[in-house]
Amino acid sequence: MENSNSYISGIGSYLPSQMLTNKDLEKMVDTTDEWIVSRTGIKKRYISAKEEATSDLATKASLSAIEDAGISPNEINMIIVATFTPDMMLPSTATRVQKNIGANNASAFDISAACSGFIYGLSIAHQFIINGTMKNVLVIGAETITKYVDWSDRNTSVLFGDGAGAVVVSQNSNGAKILGFNLGANGNPPREWLMLAGGGSVNRDENILKGKKNFITMNGKEIFKFGVNILPATITTVVKKYGLTNEDIDLVIPHQANRRIIEAAAVILNIPIQKFYINIDRYANTSAASIPIAMFDARKENILNKGDIIVLAGFGAGLTWGSMLIKY
Ligand code: ACO
Repeated sequence: MENSNSYISGIGSYLPSQMLTNKDLEKMVDTTDEWIVSRTGIKKRYISAKEEATSDLATKASLSAIEDAGISPNEINMIIVATFTPDMMLPSTATRVQKNIGANNASAFDISAACSGFIYGLSIAHQFIINGTMKNVLVIGAETITKYVDWSDRNTSVLFGDGAGAVVVSQNSNGAKILGFNLGANGNPPREWLMLAGGGSVNRDENILKGKKNFITMNGKEIFKFGVNILPATITTVVKKYGLTNEDIDLVIPHQANRRIIEAAAVILNIPIQKFYINIDRYANTSAASIPIAMFDARKENILNKGDIIVLAGFGAGLTWGSMLIKY
């Protein structure tokens, strides 16, 4: 039962100051700028400082989103942080953000859905707003992935970057509205396809150190195929579910994992590639942060404008996926 509309009232983003180019990587691992650009579209990425935690990036992105929404932190009812690189296993990164921004009236928790985490978080926020329970929910995607990268592994080290993006989801508006979403998961494929094995209950400390389990490992080919299939599928599902067609879509903001995955999805969907926002060249794959960072940049560049019908779509480890249809 929908009592209210929900809409995106604020967007924020934050990138750490240290940057690493493909040329820098050439000195660290057996790779070339040409290979990385042609296979992924990535040119550079940002790296969090040693003492900089995921909550630090999340805090800065949140303050920028809250300011954009024109509200004060006290008006936030709930904080959701999507991340697979939390500050700690316990307590949550979201409670740290709550403290940092002084959101004294907010509940706070993390969710783990890898690169789909931001879409999952947005769908939760949407529920609390449309059922009338809450007025403002802060949804953050934040990652410090480079702390978990094996810099000697060229299969993964060239792909990831750090950053945070945040949105405020609020009640009612003059026309802007979250229309709906599609979420999915499939835990059947091998976990080894995309895994950060250390830190959980399966691998205690001594095993982590012995087996290099505190690094991301990935079967790039399988994840590539999964991405190329699931991105068009979840977009088609959400667009049809709400009675629209692909022609109605002004802008697609996909998870930024690989430019070639986005290009292949555009062909399958028969949506011109110009309607896909791509900024992977600047940031690499920032997992849960990639979609809100892209939303922030797209708006700054006047590519995302008020009244646009947009689709956000993500996929990632788990396997998980999700899409969100929005009138911005
Ligand atoms: N530099 C130079 N050469 C490389 C590199 C590198 N960084 N990495 C691999 N190669 C080599 C390989 O060794 C291989 O050499 P060979 O032919 O002599 O064996 C050759 O390049 C081709 O390797 P492929 O793995 O076939 O390259 P591919 O075109 O599949 O690209 C990539 C690899 C970029 C990883 C791609 O498979 C991909 O993007 N996969 C999806 C990754 C992804 O989206 N992950 C994140 C999901 S989201 C989340 O939840 C975190």
